[in-house]
Amino acid sequence: MVITVSPIPAVNVASVPQRSLLRYPGGKTWLIPHVRVWLRSMKRPRLLVEPFAGGGIVSLTAVMENLADESLMVELDKDVAAFWKAALNYGAELAGRITSFALTRDSVMQLSCQSPADVVEHGFRTLVLNRTRRGGILAHGASFTRNGENGAGIASRWYPNTLIRRLRAIAEVAPRITFCEADGMQQLSSLLGKPHGDVAFFVDPPYTAKGGKRAGKRLYAHNEIDHALLFSMLAESNANFLMTYDRSLEIEALIESHKFHAVQVLMKSGHHALLPELVITRYPCFSKGISVA
Ligand SMILES: C[S@@+](CC[C@H](N)C(=O)[O-])C[C@H]1O[C@@H](n2cnc3c(N)ncnc32)[C@H](O)[C@@H]1O
Repeated sequence: MVITVSPIPAVNVASVPQRSLLRYPGGKTWLIPHVRVWLRSMKRPRLLVEPFAGGGIVSLTAVMENLADESLMVELDKDVAAFWKAALNYGAELAGRITSFALTRDSVMQLSCQSPADVVEHGFRTLVLNRTRRGGILAHGASFTRNGENGAGIASRWYPNTLIRRLRAIAEVAPRITFCEADGMQQLSSLLGKPHGDVAFFVDPPYTAKGGKRAGKRLYAHNEIDHALLFSMLAESNANFLMTYDRSLEIEALIESHKFHAVQVLMKSGHHALLPELVITRYPCFSKGISVA
């Protein structure tokens, strides 16, 4: 399939505001310029829905930059869900836990073995593990950062002041964000069954290309999605959506059969290889670039 290269490059993540506290594997900070163009291409949505929220960067950006009135974040992973419940509803308590925590290999190990007593403790544990495990991976079997940034070890990505600043910014917009611990497919199906003319859907499901080596399975505890069903649910609705996927023959076939529009963005992987990602929409909203097979 011939797919146009997006005229908007993947940004260096350092050049867009980092609004989430989570370092998310498969996080979409690099896609933010596309999201801005997409949301501005329609009448300002009343609601942005993110059915596979993860680190939630798109919801946070949409409400903080007033690109949508409100957002609905949906996530099935109970640890990630606890983080969002704590951040959105108990920001001051979570900030207190961040300030008072002396992060060492032992304190992290101890925290990882404890059963959290409440949602703040659970959310805090998620945050600490996310920022101390290699690649931010929370799924079972993930290992801790060894040498870390500049050889600073396990604490190399633990910046209490920065995290608290981001938490405060989230607290300011929290009344405009609803978080729901649920199955994103079910939520999507229910929302698509109601009038959704003023709703925008940002869809970033876990994906491991058939026969491919990329590792949705290793990255997320929940990683089984019926992708063909997801495409047909969107096709049968009027939903104005933006989806992202790794490029694969399976996804190209789904794009073609539903006559969706797609552009390709080259993403630099952790190992500096350039990997093609697809940005898929119902309406063409990225102007012409170069076509590539
Ligand atoms: C590719 S990641 C999303 C990354 C996110 N866009 C970001 O920028 O951080 C996919 C997310 O979907 C979640 N997930 C997997 N299956 C799900 C389901 N059935 N319902 C809701 N969330 C699910 C995973 O736990 C993971 O957090």
